[in-house]
Amino acid sequence: MTTPSAFPVEPGGSGVAPVNLWFCPNEDLAPGIAATLASYWLDEHEQEVAGRFLFERDRRQYLVAHALVRRVLALETGIPEAEAIIWRSSRGRPFLQTPTGGLPRGAGTLDFNLSHAHAYNLLGVSRELRIGVDVERLDRGERGLDSIIVTFSPEEQEWIARAAPGRPRDRRALRLWTLKEAYSKARGLGLGLSFDAFVFTLAEDAGVLSFRPPTDDSAARWRFLEIEPVPGVLAAVAVEVDPARLPAVHLHHGFPWGRAAPHRIALPETVGA
Ligand SMILES: CC(C)(COP(=O)(O)OP(=O)(O)OC[C@H]1O[C@@H](n2cnc3c(N)ncnc32)[C@H](O)[C@@H]1OP(=O)(O)O)[C@@H](O)C(=O)NCCC(=O)NCCS
Repeated sequence: MTTPSAFPVEPGGSGVAPVNLWFCPNEDLAPGIAATLASYWLDEHEQEVAGRFLFERDRRQYLVAHALVRRVLALETGIPEAEAIIWRSSRGRPFLQTPTGGLPRGAGTLDFNLSHAHAYNLLGVSRELRIGVDVERLDRGERGLDSIIVTFSPEEQEWIARAAPGRPRDRRALRLWTLKEAYSKARGLGLGLSFDAFVFTLAEDAGVLSFRPPTDDSAARWRFLEIEPVPGVLAAVAVEVDPARLPAVHLHHGFPWGRAAPHRIALPETVGA
């Protein structure tokens, strides 16, 4: 697969830090096509993981997610899909290995983070700075949110409890959950970071009003974004920021075969609590 050379990625170092979000429902890639792409593109580790799933539904989710990762990394860097080397930290966080001499399309390094759940995939890509993403479906069926809520800080639990039971309460809980996961994934800590060690204050509809980070971090280092790419699917993004470069966020929808124009999203500032 060749990669278009003029994909809408703004060069770094020009006062703008490009952040690209790629939202792709599984249904955008037919199962046969996902399997074929994966057989060419995925590395040995990915092929092995894909072979371990008991349920076809889970395998499909994994194949679409990983075909998306490799396609997007190829578009962003110019490294062909099958040639990108992805390594994992001791906590399992994947990173793109920077080739000797740097990435073909400039920028010293590129960070990415993936979330895949309930037939949806979200991939975030940022140049030189860390990014974390999380996507969840509001209607989680049998799986209740109580066991998640008890891991939050007391003030966050109180904020959730003030909402009406049912959807309004679930929405508050999931907004906090996706933000916490996104932040923790950006830092590479996953569930290894205690979720009551950092606190978000959220606006009524969407948006982070304030963020109190864990003791080893500073609020000014991060900005957060909440999106609902399709109704009932909540996603959050944590982006590390460089004061000298304004983050420019673009949201792309669907599997990136072509060069559909992305939506530009404003990334609000977060106030430290
Ligand atoms: C990261 C983690 C929170 C994922 O949670 P989730 O909501 O179930 O899954 P999501 O779909 O949002 O994200 C999964 C993706 O996050 C990425 N990921 C995995 N570990 C990660 C980490 N530590 N930090 C950031 N991202 C991570 C991977 O791309 C993964 O997808 P993949 O396995 O198909 O490549 C969870 O797996 C975790 O806490 N892992 C860390 C485990 C750990 O600390 N292990 C220590 C060594 S045993």
